[in-house]
Amino acid sequence: MRRGQRADLKTIWTATLQTVWDDLPDDERRRHDRTTWEREFRRKLTPYVEGGRTEPWIAEDGTGTFLGYLLLGEGGGFLTSEAHGFIFDVWVAPDHRGQGVGKFLMSWAADWARSRGYRKIKLEVSDSNPQARHIYEELGFRYERHYMGKNLG
Ligand SMILES: CC(C)(COP(=O)(O)OP(=O)(O)OC[C@H]1O[C@@H](n2cnc3c(N)ncnc32)[C@H](O)[C@@H]1OP(=O)(O)O)[C@@H](O)C(=O)NCCC(=O)NCCS
Repeated sequence: MRRGQRADLKTIWTATLQTVWDDLPDDERRRHDRTTWEREFRRKLTPYVEGGRTEPWIAEDGTGTFLGYLLLGEGGGFLTSEAHGFIFDVWVAPDHRGQGVGKFLMSWAADWARSRGYRKIKLEVSDSNPQARHIYEELGFRYERHYMGKNLG
């Protein structure tokens, strides 16, 4: 694992925008133009991707091939005063999926949070992402709250 650098930003931006777009509820995605949505969402996301609110961590193999990344930071302090480690994004390069990289990154993220003194680590995941949910549950994450939505037609 190594800290992310400016040269990694293009990969991170492309990946994170794609993940969020794919995980938007179908009815909302249909109402949005991808280009306009990306422009607006990029603005909101910039502090997290390149503004210091998260630490980017990159997984590489022995030859320097980019395997995936994590965006890690702090969450919480709203419902209670307790802060926790927060996984803002986890992504594995498509050619390297299904080989355990995702699970490795998630375990590494838990160690990262523990080493910074957090008692808990959290994340948000879409209902439409069963693969990610599978990994999180396998690694001991449990559902704590659910967003609910109802389409008003
Ligand atoms: C989710 C993601 C990080 C997983 O990375 P990965 O390296 O492929 O994950 P791993 O190889 O460690 O584990 C894959 C697991 O998913 C399971 N899986 C694969 N497809 C699945 C599906 N459709 N439903 C449920 N589980 C599935 C595999 O069986 C395996 O679990 P197992 O080891 O218990 O058998 C990767 O697919 C990714 O980058 N997706 C796009 C970004 C994303 O969705 N990020 C999460 C945002 S919350």
